[in-house]
Amino acid sequence: MSRNTIKTLQHKKETRHPIVMLTCYDASFARLAEQAGVDVLLVGDSLGMVVQGHETTVPVTLDDMVYHTANVTRVSCEALVIADMPFMTYATPQQAVQQAACLLQAGGAQMVKLEGGAILEPTVRHLTERGIPVCAHLGLLPQSIHQLGGYQVQARAADAAEQLLQDAQQLAAAGAQLLVLECVPQALAARVSRTLDIPVIGIGAGPDTDGQVLVLYDVIGISANRIPRFAHNFLADTASIAEAITAYADSVRARRFPSAQHSF
Ligand code: KIV
Repeated sequence: MSRNTIKTLQHKKETRHPIVMLTCYDASFARLAEQAGVDVLLVGDSLGMVVQGHETTVPVTLDDMVYHTANVTRVSCEALVIADMPFMTYATPQQAVQQAACLLQAGGAQMVKLEGGAILEPTVRHLTERGIPVCAHLGLLPQSIHQLGGYQVQARAADAAEQLLQDAQQLAAAGAQLLVLECVPQALAARVSRTLDIPVIGIGAGPDTDGQVLVLYDVIGISANRIPRFAHNFLADTASIAEAITAYADSVRARRFPSAQHSF
């Protein structure tokens, strides 16, 4: 089987087949996730919390991301692999190109993800004009947690929702080919997904996006912190980690997950 590409994801959006994304930080889980039919592996900087034991994603470095991305891409052959750009590695467009190139060349990723709104438009343009595929990330931005003051649902107010929609449109116009929407009201996520031509992947964004992503360690119930309301421990209903990841993928594809209890 050949590797999923952005075209595969675009086709899934157009034919209304939900996209299954899961975070992954090492080779063993990458194999299991691919066997379970996960479409996209996200080497998320959430590894700073679930693997390294930090309180936030802020301390994660580019070297950490290259190391974990390479562990995943060494064995992965079917999923599209996206690597997060860590905190402050994309403060300027020029810096972003250099750092993203490491994630593609040394890490083997096929796309990079950046957190932030329209302020990143020049950076996204700079990257995509140089052939570096970009996934944008709006809503709750974990790298800005000290500024936000907590992991709360974002863009509840009408003006903030309008702003988020505009940001999404600007980032897509600048060349972003995928968007992750984290912790936003279900109705807003549905509107963004309908408005944009590019696939929108939700986490805590309700069932009406083009796909879903969860943190692997939440899916198998081993996160140190309390499992967020929008996540589900699929291992609690299954007999093995492989079955839990398969249950997650099947539930997303059958639109059983997320349900109202996981949405805002
Ligand atoms: O780092 C990560 O795991 C993420 C997901 C929460 C989308 O960005």
